[in-house]
This record gives sequence, structure tokens and C-alpha cells, in this order.
Amino acid sequence: MYLKRLEVANLRNYSSQVVVPDLFFNIFSGSNAMGKTNLLEAIYLSCTGKSFRTPRESEIISWQKEFSYINSLFETNTRQVEVRVELLPGKKRIEVNGVLTRGYPQGWPGVVLFKPEDLVLVKGSPSERRRFLDLEFGPFHPQYSYLLGQYNRVLMQRNNLLREIKDNKEKISSLQVWNEQFCQYGARLLSLRIEIFKLLSPLIRDIHHDLTGAKEDLDIRYLSTLKINIPASVEDIYSRFVKELQEVEEEEIKRSQTLIGPHRDDFSLYINNRDARIYGSQGQQRTIVLTLKISQILQWHKEIGEYPILLLDDVFFELDEKRRRALLKRVGCLVQTFVTTTGENKVTLKDDFTVKRFIVHTGRIVNTEEE
Ligand SMILES: Nc1ncnc2c1ncn2[C@@H]1O[C@H](COP(=O)(O)OP(=O)(O)O)[C@@H](O)[C@H]1O
Ligand SMILES: [Mg+2]
Repeated sequence: MYLKRLEVANLRNYSSQVVVPDLFFNIFSGSNAMGKTNLLEAIYLSCTGKSFRTPRESEIISWQKEFSYINSLFETNTRQVEVRVELLPGKKRIEVNGVLTRGYPQGWPGVVLFKPEDLVLVKGSPSERRRFLDLEFGPFHPQYSYLLGQYNRVLMQRNNLLREIKDNKEKISSLQVWNEQFCQYGARLLSLRIEIFKLLSPLIRDIHHDLTGAKEDLDIRYLSTLKINIPASVEDIYSRFVKELQEVEEEEIKRSQTLIGPHRDDFSLYINNRDARIYGSQGQQRTIVLTLKISQILQWHKEIGEYPILLLDDVFFELDEKRRRALLKRVGCLVQTFVTTTGENKVTLKDDFTVKRFIVHTGRIVNTEEE
């Protein structure tokens, strides 16, 4: 899938702007605070209906303006898709091919974003990695988002109940009913995560080999709060979950919190058998995140049959030449890419794909070739 045309109005520091990107590689350069990330935000918004910067979408509307909109035209393997996103204070409307939609169809349109803050994936807290799992890795699987939603719903109700038991407003016995549902969704969610890891780990290893000239073996390992031996069937996980919940029941009531389950799980990344969270250098962290993003792209293609769009915000030119080449070799000719940079904009590669360069200057974008 690729973006053929983008038009934004009253979006952050853009009053009115049209961009006609290249099919392959697009470079947006400009100094700080000129509007480069704002542009990527607009592309991301039309691909997902959400911003990656803020949950308060009214912030995106230009100051002193009443509304903003983004019109974009995508082309997939089989059709053209027009998306219109309108933002009004406290309100959002999305139209796909002229029809008002509530959500995007599963798996479309795909976008993979790599922003500097993503480096916390390696060194940050478990909640950062769970976010990645739930929002980036998980949704490849058609059932993942549904199961996650159900699990989180029951989790919230269970936590409320634990509080009521603690306050003597409910009997301990009422926990039983919730535990069954909770463990069922939890076991299925956990089993799905394990399946996704199994699918992705050889791919991740292979991509990371490419990026590091086979110097680093990257291993991704799931860390469960349940004492399960992987592989485990859904039934095994379920009975384990039920048993372990009983063991922590007293503590859970005391703290009014569910202490074990997929919402507390984590994963580790190992380079040559050493935990990258502890030993990884800045450069290694960046390469790991790049590996994860490329694996997302390739996995997306396997599942959906389309390549997603790739957005690299202040990331591409920070990679060394070797890794840039490896990235482009893997996805350059397959994926429409948008990169931003405050500095150089040269890509020195064998020209088997096309490049368009744009200059971003306080909310205006100029294609340098058309100047
Ligand atoms: N709602 C808004 N209305 C107008 N300008 C905005 C709005 N939100 C952010 N900006 C401006 O956008 C600029 C930042 O743009 P950004 O795309 O993040 O810059 P960069 O080129 O460094 O990536 C800042 O000057 C900021 O003041
Ligand atoms: Mg920026």
C-alpha cells in the first residue's frame, strides 16, 4: 500500500498543504520545530485514525482555527482508497471512500512508525514493552485486539471486586465467577502471545543478522508472571492460572490489585545471550528496535498481503551507513518510506528505487526537484 496524495488543512503549523510523495523514498529535511513530525503525524492519522503524539486530538487543530482535516489517497494492490479525517474540538469524523466509519477495517491501512522515543523499548519499563506487544505486534493476529479488550474489561471488574472485598462490601466467594472468565481470556491471550513470539523469533534473528553483519544473535524471550513451561497448551495455561491466582488471593485483596497475568508480563531481548536491557549500548538498542520494526513490516505483509507504509522520524540518518544499506536492502524497494532529518538528505545507494526530497520550513513544504 502506498500514499499517492496528502492534503492537510489547519493541522498544527500547516494552514494548507498538499504533498505528492514518491512511491518509494521520501526525505523531509528542515530545522527544528518546522513541521516535520507534524507531517508524519498527519500521515499516521490517516492510516490509523489516531495520533501517535497525543490522545487529545483537539491539540492537532491549528491554534485559532475551528477545525482541521486531512484528505489522503492510498493505493493498495487492488484498489484506491480515499480517507478523510476531520477534527473538530472534542469530535472526530473519518470517511473511507465517502462512507462514514467508526473504526478502520482490521489490518488496514498499515503503518509502521519508528520514532526516537522507541528506544525505551529495550531499556524502559515492562509497560513500554507490553504497549509494543499490544499495539504493534499483537494486532497482526485477527483475534488479538478482541481478546486483549475482553481481558482488560474483566481485569478492571476483578480489580473493583477485590477492592469491594477488602472494604467488606462483597464476599470472597464472589471472586470465583470472575476468576473463571478472567483465566479463560488470560490463557487465550497468553497463548496467542507465545504463538506470535514463536512466529517472529526466527524472522527477528535473521533480520538482526543482516543488520549486524552476522555479529549479533538476537533472541526475544517472553517472560510470564505465571510459572508456565513454554510451549504450553491453552488448557495447561488455564489450570496453572487458576491455581496461581488462589495462591496470591490474600495479597491481591490486600492490595486491591490483580498481581499475575498477561497484564504484568514482559519480554527480554538478548544479544549473544546477554540481556540487552542491562548490557546493550545506545547503538545496539537502536539496531534492535530497527529489527523489531522491520519484522513488523514483513510479518504484516505475510498476514495481510500488503506492505505497510514506513515512517522514520529523525531515525534514518542517525543509523550508520551499513545499517541504512541493510534496511533499504530489506524493505527499500517494497515499502513506501518517509524519513525526516534536520541535517543531511543524501542517500548514496544503487539507484534501484526512486527518491523525492522535500524541504520543510515553518509549515510549508517544497519539493526541491520542482523548485
Ligand atoms: N495546534 C498547533 N497549532 C499551531 N502550531 C502548532 C500546533 N501544535 C504544534 N505546533 C507547532 O508545530 C511546531 C513543531 O512542529 P514539529 O513537526 O514537531 O517540528 P519538527 O520539524 O522539529 O519535527 C512547533 O513550532 C509548534 O509550536
Ligand atoms: Mg520532529
